[in-house]
Amino acid sequence: MSHELVEKNVAWMGVLIFLVVLVGGAVEILPLFFLKSTTEPVAGLKPYTALQLEGRDIYIREGCYGCHSQMIRPFRAEAERYGRYSVAGESVYDHPFQWGSKRTGPDLARVGGRYSDDWHRVHMTNPRDLVPESNMPAYPWLAKRTLNAARTGSKMVALRRVGVPYSDADIEGAEASVSGRSELDAVVAYLQVLGTSLKGAQ
Ligand code: HEC
Repeated sequence: MSHELVEKNVAWMGVLIFLVVLVGGAVEILPLFFLKSTTEPVAGLKPYTALQLEGRDIYIREGCYGCHSQMIRPFRAEAERYGRYSVAGESVYDHPFQWGSKRTGPDLARVGGRYSDDWHRVHMTNPRDLVPESNMPAYPWLAKRTLNAARTGSKMVALRRVGVPYSDADIEGAEASVSGRSELDAVVAYLQVLGTSLKGAQ
């Protein structure tokens, strides 16, 4: 096939461009599914408890990711501000992960343990009580709403299917461990575990 044919025939050109992009994409993307550093959990990574998992779902429902990333990039300025940079093995149990890149507020990848539970409770109910210049919305309803405990177990069953190592006991105990708890309890439990699995990361 001469070069002229490719230059004059857009269909051939399209097919060949597609093939080149396919090969380039496969070389970049496919290894990620097999590399240990992107598929294996870091030592000490635990699946979310039932309460933390509910908190994560509320984080997604409320769109917190619209202002907060959960991925510290490997640059000195980032590490000094937020803590050790994030690695893929910290997020292997997250479906879907919450890395993001939009930062109206600070990155939350290592916010776990940075503040007390009470700080978070006040902050979520009205951020301006603690940070006067904050433009984060208030979420006062979280404290008033009770979790729907009946669904927690089935969420864990679904996650187990995609590789999160929940035991039968975790799943059976899920309803009891979240029932009667508020949505705020769940969000705080979730925030407090973020980024704590990697030893020496804080
Ligand atoms: C409109 C953007 C916006 C949204 C949406 C938002 N935040 Fe924020 N958030 C901010 C800003 C700005 C700050 C920094 C000022 C402050 O601490 O209030 C912040 C701070 C925080 C902090 C303290 C982080 C630190 O290291 O000091 C936490 C925790 C937090 N947000 C959690 C949440 C959660 C959970 C949600 C969803 C329920 C949420 N945010 C939704 C903008 C937002």
